[in-house]
Amino acid sequence: MAVSANTSPDNRPVGFFDSGLGGLCILEAFKKACPAENTVYIADSANCPYGNRPADEIRRISFANTRELLSKYGCKMIVVACNTATAAAIDALRESFPETPFIGIEPAIKPAALNSKSGVVGVLATAGTFNGRLYRETTARFARDVTVIAAVADEFVALVERGETSGIEAERTVKAKVEPLLAAGADHIVLGCTHFPHLKHLMEKVACGRAEVVDPSDAVVRQAERVLAKMNLKGATDAPYHKFIRTKGGGDVQTCC
Ligand code: DGL
Repeated sequence: MAVSANTSPDNRPVGFFDSGLGGLCILEAFKKACPAENTVYIADSANCPYGNRPADEIRRISFANTRELLSKYGCKMIVVACNTATAAAIDALRESFPETPFIGIEPAIKPAALNSKSGVVGVLATAGTFNGRLYRETTARFARDVTVIAAVADEFVALVERGETSGIEAERTVKAKVEPLLAAGADHIVLGCTHFPHLKHLMEKVACGRAEVVDPSDAVVRQAERVLAKMNLKGATDAPYHKFIRTKGGGDVQTCC
């Protein structure tokens, strides 16, 4: 990862990808924090969900998204706005594209474990994230003294992709997942999938003050800001563009709309 000595603005876009609409919560936080940056977001709905796919398949898809963002849109940095893709692919991406900084996302186990008073922390994520090395290592390192309850919540991904973030069905689905964590004594519920912040209001309603819902979006954006500054990659656009690409059909990055 080369650090440029050039201090003039770099208005190439920042690229984002996720298996669909989940990572938009990261994109929105980024746009607020960095209003002078252009962005390109790939919502890879054609391949959604990533959560249950084998790691090598997620890597292949992540490489396709990355190549698209780099070769077609000339992105200066890639935010892997997906815990599952980060778990499966970020090491390989960094190795294969050493000139490009990559920002990943992983469940915020550390702050939850440090702040837990009950000694029980719930984590909601996909199977792919729970199976990854990052999750294993972070949990072993920072959550030795707490009980971590891992719950796969693929149903939440489907709800968000359907745009169903409120209503009876959404509330029922959220309650069914969150209640057992509360009943087990969790006082922090970590959102380990970027689709889940879209349902945070419902989790907070179910928790009703019994647990804090931990969303790492802002921390990811702060890291992205730090890297842009450190590598002299900051943009300074008065009227930034925000390109949104949603894949559809049976392949990788194929169709844009
Ligand atoms: N949004 C993705 C994540 O953060 C996963 C959703 C999916 O299963 O596709 O893990």
